[in-house]
Amino acid sequence: MTNLPVGKRHFCELNDAGSHSIAAMLNEAIDRKKARMGLPRGVADKDAPLAGHVLAMAFEKSSTRTRVSFDIAMRQLGGSALILDSGTSQLGRGETVADTARVLSRMADAIMVRTDDHAKIDEMAYYASVPVINGLTDQSHPCQIVADLLTIIEHGKPLPGLELAWLGDCNNVMNSLVEAAGLMQFNIRIGTPTGYIPDARYVEAARANGAKVTVTHDAQEAARGADILVTDTWISMGQDHADAKLRELAPYQVNTDLMALAKADAKFLHCLPAHVGDEVSKEVFEGPQSVVFDEAENRIHAQKSVLQWCFGQLG
Ligand code: CP
Ligand code: NVA
Repeated sequence: MTNLPVGKRHFCELNDAGSHSIAAMLNEAIDRKKARMGLPRGVADKDAPLAGHVLAMAFEKSSTRTRVSFDIAMRQLGGSALILDSGTSQLGRGETVADTARVLSRMADAIMVRTDDHAKIDEMAYYASVPVINGLTDQSHPCQIVADLLTIIEHGKPLPGLELAWLGDCNNVMNSLVEAAGLMQFNIRIGTPTGYIPDARYVEAARANGAKVTVTHDAQEAARGADILVTDTWISMGQDHADAKLRELAPYQVNTDLMALAKADAKFLHCLPAHVGDEVSKEVFEGPQSVVFDEAENRIHAQKSVLQWCFGQLG
């Protein structure tokens, strides 16, 4: 596979790639997933397009899916990955982001970072001479959303004109979904309590790109006629457990009553980890409309495309 002549490609937000490249990532993921069906997960794809490449993954927060999917993604692309935990690396002892970026750029071919303050990703990208990938910040989770879009398409729902309902907290995953709405031309209805305000930067950008973004405090209004219902934990990593917040969000639980208002073929998505009984009822989570484990598996296929784009193998 040839590398396209491109500059340094970071994936800190979906917009760094843009709609054309996200569409290319989704097509590539569908093709690659199909082509390797039945192979053991650690076997490389036939063309091994990232043979010999190493991804360094730095985690300042916990992870199961992001950590495993990027590792398996690199193996399937013919490369390898290594992990730096803040607790066991110098990151946790205060070595600067700038120095970490410059050191990792001399030792690895790309850097994936999961951290709290989004400014750290931007700083890492500024100082790194290799691609930097956002593996989640307090602000956004673009890699998750590439997997979500792939899952939505696989379940027979084209993105343009899609009606997607987000229920619950206004968080990092929601910000990236709003960004995706603008880039991929679908509409998003956010059902969230009074006092919960989506990040205006993402909402305004999506609207400027032509997406209809509706914010309502009525969960039923958000869910009615939707193609896709999405929720996430009510307490994100780094946030304190707060009983008052749980009480405010309780009316936004995705349950069978809410699913019944959506289209008959509507699907339920959740990035996981889930708190069944809080943001989603057991009946919905375990029910026939839930595609959460397809979504989790698709992290591998989506992350492969993100990596290929970063290395200039996708336009
Ligand atoms: N959805 C997601 O990013 O999961 P992890 O926190 O387990 O990586
Ligand atoms: N909003 C969640 C997503 C976890 C993948 C969090 O930040 O904890």
